[in-house]
Amino acid sequence: KNIVVLVSGSGTNLQRIMDTIDSGEIPDAKVSLVVADRECFGLERAKKHNIENVLIPRGKNFGSELGKIIPENTDLIVLAGFLSILKPEFCENWTGKIINIHPALLPKFGGKGMWGHHVHQAVIEAREKESGATVHFVTPGIDEGEAILQKSFPVTEEDTAETIAQKVHEVEYEIFPEAINKVLGNG
Ligand code: GRF
Repeated sequence: KNIVVLVSGSGTNLQRIMDTIDSGEIPDAKVSLVVADRECFGLERAKKHNIENVLIPRGKNFGSELGKIIPENTDLIVLAGFLSILKPEFCENWTGKIINIHPALLPKFGGKGMWGHHVHQAVIEAREKESGATVHFVTPGIDEGEAILQKSFPVTEEDTAETIAQKVHEVEYEIFPEAINKVLGNG
């Protein structure tokens, strides 16, 4: 199975995906391409792993450029800390084949502006008793697609946006490979 991964940041989820493919936890799969919308460490991780990689600077041509470079035989497009918003036509062309990981328990704390520490800050301000991560299908509505897997953890009075971010990453590393297997029909 051919997986394309889109990144904008440090790429620790990309790393986890590449590692779980190498270890056989995601069987019969390869990351065939990594696309970044800005210079980022995720791109470096792809290079180090000898994976084909492309930088398409974000901007008005991003959507059409992306459409041109995704190989037709792609089975799954994975957004792993990817911050640009995909065009509705792109989402519709690849319906059921694009997934995203979101650092909260959707449908809570999703939508425009809800990314990175903004999400964790909002969770603290709302005095939530738990947070977590969600893997979901990507549709034109931001963070609105059907959930595939979700995992939560308790939030305590001592938590800060920083500590929540760490806990979120831990659950992401667990559920992302599992969700990819689920969508690819493995076990
Ligand atoms: C993750 O927490 C993901 O949920 C969010 O951005 C973060 C990316 O982290 N969308 P990394 O680049 O995979 O380390």
